[in-house]
Amino acid sequence: MADRRTAVIAGATGVAGRNLLAHLEAQPGWEVIAVSRRAPDISGSYRHISVDLMDPVSCAAKLGGEAGAVLGVTHVFHMAYVNLDTWDDLIAPNLTLLTNLMDALEPASPNLAHVHLIEGTKWYGCHLGPFPVPAKEDDPRPDGPVFYHAQQDFLEARQACKAWGWSAARPHGICGFALGNPLNLDNVLAVYASVLKALGQPLRHPGSWENAQALYQVSDSGLLSRAIEWMATTPACANHAFNITNGDLFRWPDLWPRIAGWFGMDYEPPKPGQAAISLQDLMMDKAGLWAGLVAEYGLQDIPFDQFVSWAYGDYAFANTWDIASSVEKANRFGFGETMDTGDMFLDHFQTMRDAKVIP
Ligand SMILES: NC(=O)c1ccc[n+]([C@@H]2O[C@H](COP(=O)([O-])OP(=O)(O)OC[C@H]3O[C@@H](n4cnc5c(N)ncnc54)[C@H](OP(=O)(O)O)[C@@H]3O)[C@@H](O)[C@H]2O)c1
Repeated sequence: MADRRTAVIAGATGVAGRNLLAHLEAQPGWEVIAVSRRAPDISGSYRHISVDLMDPVSCAAKLGGEAGAVLGVTHVFHMAYVNLDTWDDLIAPNLTLLTNLMDALEPASPNLAHVHLIEGTKWYGCHLGPFPVPAKEDDPRPDGPVFYHAQQDFLEARQACKAWGWSAARPHGICGFALGNPLNLDNVLAVYASVLKALGQPLRHPGSWENAQALYQVSDSGLLSRAIEWMATTPACANHAFNITNGDLFRWPDLWPRIAGWFGMDYEPPKPGQAAISLQDLMMDKAGLWAGLVAEYGLQDIPFDQFVSWAYGDYAFANTWDIASSVEKANRFGFGETMDTGDMFLDHFQTMRDAKVIP
């Protein structure tokens, strides 16, 4: 392997990719190449290459052949993602993003040491219904459409007999600062609370009573980035997948009082039998209210529909079953970091307030 590591982060403007970019930028010994269609909004000495990963010709021209050889890539972090309406629809395009990237980069990168793939708890079918918890990395695959299975199968087959290794992180509900990426629980919670407060209403659990009783977990994007760097640079992690979450399972009512306190508003606990409210319906006519908050507090003018995906918010509060992963394997292999999720949310809200994106 070359002395200096050269990383390609595909999907560098996403919730996961942007935070890995910020992380590796701050680490010694890394040269970083950000790949995405839009330019990342963070400063640094990294290079950005605008590539449409759905287009194999563009990938070959910008990342393959002589253009790719000049880059001298040693580490690939695949964090690009296309979001579509059904679980089935996700499989083909998300596999294409990865295959186009690898088809271009791998032959052009003789010093390739590691390819990291970000996956998630959907590996275990958490989006399909109840599953054995806490989920362990070698649990049987669920029946049903999971695009991570197609991506990992591709990567494992591609790696066979090669000098490089692969790894995969399986986070859940990645939380971290990223604008223009509305699939982010930080944004859902912060804007939901701000809107209710502006309406003079208390903070309420938007999910059903059963959802309020279910265990849940999230992954701080900073913790996740540190885990991903660890996986990609620790020989024992080669060709393994690891659950990476904050490690402290919670139920939403454990957190709401702290969140309400931070926003300076009342909290109304969930009631037995309550049904979920639709965040999509609630927020349908709130763009004007948000524009008023933007003007009143001098906030960055992010279009309401690009700030938060309320469909994602409804999905995040839809499970009536426990969503829990074991982090024992990561611990056993040497990554022992955990985080208090309540502290994490308050810290992230402060970052958002400091950046003038929420009141
Ligand atoms: N967000 C979560 O809570 C979460 C939780 C667990 C697992 N995951 C997994 O983590 C991965 C990344 O998710 P994310 O939430 O970070 O996604 P995201 O915020 O939607 O970001 C997607 C990234 O992919 C890039 N991209 C999409 N289409 C592209 C194309 N045609 N060419 C080049 N780049 C393209 C986007 O950049 P441009 O638009 O600038 O091109 C962006 O950088 C996914 O596999 C997801 O399932 C996410």
